[in-house]
Amino acid sequence: MMDQKPGNAGCSGSACGSNTASQMASSMQDKLIAGSLAKIKNKLIVMSGKGGVGKSSIAANLAVALAQKGFKTGLMDVDLHGPSISQMMGLEGLLDITPDRRVLPMAYNQHLKVVSMQSLMTDANQAVIWRGPAKTGIIRQFVADVLWEDLDFLIIDCPPGTGDEPLSVAQTISDAKALVITTPQEVALLDVRKSINFCRTINLQIIGLLENMGPFVCPDCGEAIELFKSGGGAETAHKMGIPFLGSLPFDPAVVITADSGTPIIDQNADNQFAKALNESVSNIINRL
Ligand SMILES: Nc1ncnc2c1ncn2[C@@H]1O[C@H](COP(=O)(O)OP(=O)(O)OP(=O)(O)O)[C@@H](O)[C@H]1O
Ligand SMILES: [Mg+2]
Repeated sequence: MMDQKPGNAGCSGSACGSNTASQMASSMQDKLIAGSLAKIKNKLIVMSGKGGVGKSSIAANLAVALAQKGFKTGLMDVDLHGPSISQMMGLEGLLDITPDRRVLPMAYNQHLKVVSMQSLMTDANQAVIWRGPAKTGIIRQFVADVLWEDLDFLIIDCPPGTGDEPLSVAQTISDAKALVITTPQEVALLDVRKSINFCRTINLQIIGLLENMGPFVCPDCGEAIELFKSGGGAETAHKMGIPFLGSLPFDPAVVITADSGTPIIDQNADNQFAKALNESVSNIINRL
């Protein structure tokens, strides 16, 4: 079960038998991981080379949108240093552990269960200070030890960049597909092109590029205000040869609803971001 101290290198000598013990533990964990993954039909990694482009907001709203359509959905937050999913989903408290030391994900609603690093920490303001192997360890535990039921979708929210977390997820979940997020501006696209090449290097299939923070349509005058420019996502997807899944508008309601703990798509389905997201969700489903 989750011991919160993964990645302990232990004794390096072979004589004490600890190597054999750790190999056995690792192969037992491999079996648990295979068992968990066999019950999950589609795994999507929400990622971006750039921070703050809306990965977590999209992961949360996408998970709710899929659950609204009746899909059994899991949402796994592997942003170990800056988990924001619990806040965005209004989930407080710690994860429950069963007597046989398995972890129960938290229910957002009947169709959507959530696991986040935040729900393992007794102090919400505690900082996680881990290096690569420890991070890989906890991500493997998230898959192995969490009692996911049969799921249609597992949405995985990653931190920015092409570091340990997306790499560990891709290695642990070999049939996962990447949903790459960008904003329209060149500064974001520069990093996003690196993400696309990262996916190609590690043979992680890309389901497509989704643009966030596209033009904000003024509710009073109807004018489209390009806060982060426009069109960059579609252009980059075309140039990089990957599917473009849509553009989600900048919308202050996304900020307010994230802070309130109920994603916008669950509060106002007629809102411009929610409508655009639902169109992109259809595009995603059609590409699976
Ligand atoms: N379409 C949008 N319109 C307006 N605000 C948005 C939109 N999408 C996200 N935001 C806001 O932008 C900020 C960053 O969003 P979010 O935390 O989802 O990004 P992130 O890519 O997950 O960030 P990080 O890289 O830190 O994990 C948040 O304040 C969020 O509420
Ligand atoms: Mg995030």
